[in-house]
Amino acid sequence: IQSLDWAGLEATVSACTRCALHATRKQTVFGVGDRRARWMFIGEAPGADEDRLGEPFVGRAGQLLNAMLFAIGLKREEVYIANVLKCRPPGNRDPQPDEVEQCEPYLIRQIELIQPRLIVALGRHAAHSLLKTEVPLGKLRGQRLSYHGTPLIVTYHPAYLLRNPADKRKVWDDLCLARSVVQN
Ligand code: URA
Repeated sequence: IQSLDWAGLEATVSACTRCALHATRKQTVFGVGDRRARWMFIGEAPGADEDRLGEPFVGRAGQLLNAMLFAIGLKREEVYIANVLKCRPPGNRDPQPDEVEQCEPYLIRQIELIQPRLIVALGRHAAHSLLKTEVPLGKLRGQRLSYHGTPLIVTYHPAYLLRNPADKRKVWDDLCLARSVVQN
């Protein structure tokens, strides 16, 4: 995986059977956006809409992600968006550790190919999977962390924000921190 180019990586992901999720997916959800982006956003796993359409963050959470991007002056097409898992967990259950372990090399290769200036981890599951920690999200926010050498910051998942709109303020703060990391 670590030597694949974009075409090879995409083909390998779409044929992947490394974990049990391949049996229940409609299709894999590789990632979307500018392959030379400065910003990379990483969510947890595809949901039903993403499984159907083959693109990350296309449901309601995706609409809110687009609005979050717009708020800091970014267009969806100029960032790169992916998930820790490339296949939908049935019934949107939480990702399991073995699924993350099998799928993570794909994400690491995507990051190597993109070389973003910053990764924004969206939500608790993405943050915990990437950082190998169980520290609560509220404690991980507001810090400049790192993932395989790339600066990483953590913020709330847009699906969480749909249920807790009062926390949009905190996400704004996180995105301002993110912008300062990208600009330096
Ligand atoms: N939630 C995620 O974490 N990723 C998606 O692609 C959609 C919803």
